[in-house]
Amino acid sequence: MGLFSFFTQELAIDLGTANTLIIQDGKVVVEEPSIVAINLLTKEVVAVGHKAMQMHEKTHQNLKTIRPLKDGVIADFQAAEAMIQGLINMIGERKKFFTHLKIVICIPSGITEVEKRAVFDSADHVDSKETYLIYEPMAAALGIGLDVEAPEGNMIIDIGGGTTEIAVIALSGIVTDQSIRIAGDVFTSDIVDYMKKKYNLLVGERTAEQIKIAVGSAITELPNPPEPIAINGRDLITGIPRQVEVKYSEVAVALDDSLNKVETAILKVLEDVPPELASDIYKRGIYLTGGGALLRGLDIRLSRKTKLDVRVADDPLRAVVKGSGIALKGTNRYTFLMDRKNL
Ligand SMILES: Nc1ncnc2c1ncn2[C@@H]1O[C@H](COP(=O)(O)OP(=O)(O)OP(=O)(O)O)[C@@H](O)[C@H]1O
Ligand SMILES: [Mg+2]
Repeated sequence: MGLFSFFTQELAIDLGTANTLIIQDGKVVVEEPSIVAINLLTKEVVAVGHKAMQMHEKTHQNLKTIRPLKDGVIADFQAAEAMIQGLINMIGERKKFFTHLKIVICIPSGITEVEKRAVFDSADHVDSKETYLIYEPMAAALGIGLDVEAPEGNMIIDIGGGTTEIAVIALSGIVTDQSIRIAGDVFTSDIVDYMKKKYNLLVGERTAEQIKIAVGSAITELPNPPEPIAINGRDLITGIPRQVEVKYSEVAVALDDSLNKVETAILKVLEDVPPELASDIYKRGIYLTGGGALLRGLDIRLSRKTKLDVRVADDPLRAVVKGSGIALKGTNRYTFLMDRKNL
């Protein structure tokens, strides 16, 4: 027990483009959309997380909602720090001056050194005294219970809001990976574009996401198809609100180009895998995590393309934060954790 241990607060944070989750003492204590609402007159934070999301796309001139992350990295520093602080505050009061705050925070594997430094700086600003970074696919692998330290290859694909991370992991390291900025947010905007082209209908980001979740699909013939969904938008020609029904197969068409790009990246990783590890992956298959893993038929589509078994992890939205929580308990052991000295 160190001098500080009595006063140590330890947090694992999955700072995602779409959702931010925090684990404390092995429990998920925060699970909120990554968004803040700011009063433009006073510059004060009005709301974070779900409350701010309810205001999204419904704001007026004095109120603005900001999603501080884009493509997996911090795009608006002030907003990101305000959001992280707001979310940590949700856990409850902490005695700031007596508490040693220790954080493990995950980052996309394609991040630059400058972007890494920005994450450390944001952690400093919320008073973290000990900060470690972990790559998202490594956290996802740990989170779904894989033995990342073993001399065995495991392939993980984490499809989030901002990035799709494809990695092969063995012996505590990432052997080969691709991080592409095509993920849930792009799928959502594909749906917005499709609605415009097909129906002359303008729908907001939230409605498009609703379509994706309610009837989203990666293939045009699903074994258990969902019922079509009725959605409202604004007619681009008359300017009047109008309702249309959307079928799952239309979403598959809308997402096809983006999913092709994800497949190309997966094939690239498979080509780069050394043969011994390739045979492990052939035996064990591919694991899917992140919110994008919930897209209907994605496992079937990827399995057809790669000729490998593709499995959707249990609780895919929480895999990364769970893994970050496991890493937090082993900061003196896991060699893949990065602190400022590694930069
Ligand atoms: N049932 C579903 N079907 C399809 N997509 C879904 C479903 N549920 C959630 N999503 C999408 O998953 C994405 C969020 O996933 P996740 O929380 O893993 O991302 P993130 O960790 O915030 O992003 P990133 O890791 O890229 O920074 C969103 O784009 C959301 O629309
Ligand atoms: Mg994520």
